[in-house]
Amino acid sequence: MLRRPRRNRKTAGIRSLTRQTQVTTDDLVFPLFLIEGNNQKQEVTSMPGIYRLTSDLMLKEIEYCMGLGIRSFDVFPVIPDKDKNPEASEGHNEKSFYLRTLREIKSRLPEAHIITDIAMDPYSSDGHDGLVKNGKVLNDATLKILGKMALAQAATGIDMIGPSDMMDGRVGYLRELLDKQGFQEVGIMSYTAKYASAFYGPFRDALDSVPKFGDKKTYQMDPANRREALLEARLDYEEGADILMVKPALPYLDIISDLKENFPLPVAAYNVSGEYAMIKSAVQKGWLDGERTMKESLTAIKRAGADIILTYFAKEFAEGNRR
Ligand code: PBG
Repeated sequence: MLRRPRRNRKTAGIRSLTRQTQVTTDDLVFPLFLIEGNNQKQEVTSMPGIYRLTSDLMLKEIEYCMGLGIRSFDVFPVIPDKDKNPEASEGHNEKSFYLRTLREIKSRLPEAHIITDIAMDPYSSDGHDGLVKNGKVLNDATLKILGKMALAQAATGIDMIGPSDMMDGRVGYLRELLDKQGFQEVGIMSYTAKYASAFYGPFRDALDSVPKFGDKKTYQMDPANRREALLEARLDYEEGADILMVKPALPYLDIISDLKENFPLPVAAYNVSGEYAMIKSAVQKGWLDGERTMKESLTAIKRAGADIILTYFAKEFAEGNRR
């Protein structure tokens, strides 16, 4: 035998020399859940180890994570029911605790790279990402609301918006609006190929944002479709997106790989709440090794082509690296 691949696996030394993929904290974005109030943390039942935090504790959390080498955070607001309405107007209320906290984070921790969420669902009494009329989610009318949201968020000093709504044309609409208002430096990480997935369940628990009727299949993609992701990616590319995202991550590695091969933009993958919950629940039962499963998952996502991984494991991963 001339070729013995096992020679390159013989010792830890040769394995580390020949390793083709290495996940580091530089690759990670840590999603955070913000609640109103002071000095409170509530664990998300279906996401052990993940807490909804008030702004004071979130600032401390970000500072702590930055000390571990995580630089990037995606902040999602948990809006009380009383502030939700069909127009999602709390999304652009300058006095809202979300916008206030974003301002505070950027003034106290300017080095933190802060990404925000653009979609109506956290603020919508219908629980949908767009404006609902007669049981339908309207596209173009939603864009106007998303635009107000984006401008209000950009004005807080955040670095990048993350449109997660899946309305047609929103990347171009938001890019143009931001540019017109002088926010040329605010980036767009587009949820390019966001699938109508069952893996978002725990996130909707965290935000209390389950749709009040129907599902999200008229705007999020059909999990059966692969080539359609190229269409979405082409549109986002042409409309000015800075980063293309695939969501969820692990069940969609083929999509990550497609976008990486076909577009000269960084590709992000969102290792979503359900992917996190699956591992955590098995670990709690003693059925899986948590650390190894986490690392293998993140490595596989990066190996498929993701340059950036949004993951609830970010802090745990970084803490493990420090040990
Ligand atoms: C909604 C949104 C969702 C997630 C991020 N933004 C859920 C949904 O589409 O219902 C899911 C993230 C996760 O599951 O971790 N705009």
